[in-house]
Amino acid sequence: MKILLVYFSHSGNNKLLSEELCRRLTCDVCAIAEKKRRTILTIILDMMLKRTPSIEPLRYRPSDYQHIVFVAPIWGSKVANPMAALIGREKASIAHYSFISLCGHGSPGQSESICRQLEDLSGQPPKRECELRISELMPEEKKDDVRAISGYRVTEKDLHFFDAKITDFCGAILADS
Ligand SMILES: Cc1cc2nc3c(=O)[nH]c(=O)nc-3n(C[C@H](O)[C@H](O)[C@H](O)COP(=O)(O)O)c2cc1C
Repeated sequence: MKILLVYFSHSGNNKLLSEELCRRLTCDVCAIAEKKRRTILTIILDMMLKRTPSIEPLRYRPSDYQHIVFVAPIWGSKVANPMAALIGREKASIAHYSFISLCGHGSPGQSESICRQLEDLSGQPPKRECELRISELMPEEKKDDVRAISGYRVTEKDLHFFDAKITDFCGAILADS
């Protein structure tokens, strides 16, 4: 099965995760590039105004692949909007897909709401959805500290903490091939 990994990352966490996934899935990979420079302010304004960003064309054609792995942060309990824009734009070219995110604290029900959003965007549910929560890496006193969690930069060592979930996610995708 030909797999394409498409990622968006603003501060590097989901880029690091994508590199690890690529090693495990041995797949093609491309990043979503935005036409305008993104800042924390534009993240917040986009969330408030429900704006859709302009994104550059992808390096590979999703229709050439049997499975697309989407990797992106979660902002305001939604898939980061550059990724949402891409999925909406490419929906007719997506055979099957999965979604994984290195995200923050995650509110109760976030996973279900992300699955619903993905289905609305693409017209089909994801084969797999997985959230790796940074809050789980934090010491007890910082587990609810949204600022500390959102500002946290994940390291290679941190990824080992999520090894079982990453193995499970990749194993399920490879088992379908
Ligand atoms: C404005 C903003 C809103 C966020 N909202 C959420 C959220 O609703 N749920 C969540 O789990 N994480 C949330 N996060 C945390 C990010 O998903 C997390 O920091 C992610 O690892 C960033 O990925 P990146 O480094 O690849 O850009 C938010 C972060 C920012 C900056």
